[in-house]
Amino acid sequence: MSGVRLICQRLLYGAEKREALSSAGILCKVTDMYKNEILRMLRSSGTYVSGQDLCRELGISRTAVWKNIRQLEEDGYEIEASAGKGYRITGFPDTIAEEEVASILQTERVGKKIRYFSRIDSTNQYAKRIAEEGAEDGTLIIADEQTAGKGRSGRRWVTPPGEAIAFTLLLRPPLSPDRISMVTLVMGMAAAKAVRSLYDLPAGIKWPNDVVTGGRKLCGILTEMSAEVEKVHYIVIGVGINANICEFPEEIRQIATSLKLETGQDVNRAQVIARTMEYFERYYTVFEKDGDLSGLMEEYNALLLNRGRGVRVLDPAGAYTGTARGINSRGELIVERDDGAESMVYAGEVSVRGIYGYV
Ligand code: BTN
Repeated sequence: MSGVRLICQRLLYGAEKREALSSAGILCKVTDMYKNEILRMLRSSGTYVSGQDLCRELGISRTAVWKNIRQLEEDGYEIEASAGKGYRITGFPDTIAEEEVASILQTERVGKKIRYFSRIDSTNQYAKRIAEEGAEDGTLIIADEQTAGKGRSGRRWVTPPGEAIAFTLLLRPPLSPDRISMVTLVMGMAAAKAVRSLYDLPAGIKWPNDVVTGGRKLCGILTEMSAEVEKVHYIVIGVGINANICEFPEEIRQIATSLKLETGQDVNRAQVIARTMEYFERYYTVFEKDGDLSGLMEEYNALLLNRGRGVRVLDPAGAYTGTARGINSRGELIVERDDGAESMVYAGEVSVRGIYGYV
């Protein structure tokens, strides 16, 4: 048991201190921590866990365990309590709330702090606000509904409650601003891999980071950054995945799809978030070590749906067509122009369109 947990528990015993902590907004985090931990233990055991084991593991009283169990039930978990055996989970709510994601997330540093909102304007907007206030690297913001979800190029992003996945990861990478577009590619890879590993879908990437399956868009990523000329203060990587959405607005109906439409089943949104974060952490570690995408290029190119296909590059200096060959170690798209010359297309500067469809 960590020292932190012990300290928290002692603090919880004193009513006055509890009040002080509560007014400082700390108590909520302490109790949530126990709730998350209890959920994690019940989930991983798959059977009964005795009250005694929970008390011992967490260093809290039986009453505190019981209160946390009650809270989990209020959150929609079905928990069976049996005299002599303990507690066992029998039903899970369809939720992407903090305790659910935290109880399945297997990462070392990404998403160790989660902030969940049932409704928010935009997780990217919120992430930028808390980044300005000093929020930690790796903080994950999740929302069930966004009222002003933002897409790329000033477009809106629809996030209906209970159906979509919307989250933003806040990072403080020690990089120069020109390297940040590569991190967005890393997130695109992570989302595509998460989808492929959880479902039997041939999801791939439309350069630079749209996740596409069956020729339609499943996931979009919007990265925003605060930086000086040479130094990045923070970046927020917003990920929107169409999970259980079945109806799209008219303007995107022909190009959008969802996991539910593609698999024919309801998807577990928390699992998709956790798996995406796990792949992201794995790939981001490689990226950090290399300082570029050289260690990930091969895997990215294997996922790249544009590869070998005709593309139209909407370069402000003049649009041209060619065939996409893959990315280089900086994440630029290598395009063999129709006149035989080779161009490196930098993400963020130009748009690339498929000539024969969305990809
Ligand atoms: C795109 O246009 O392809 C990018 C869409 C990004 C949407 C996500 S949803 C979570 C985060 N919050 C936002 O407001 N936008 C991003």
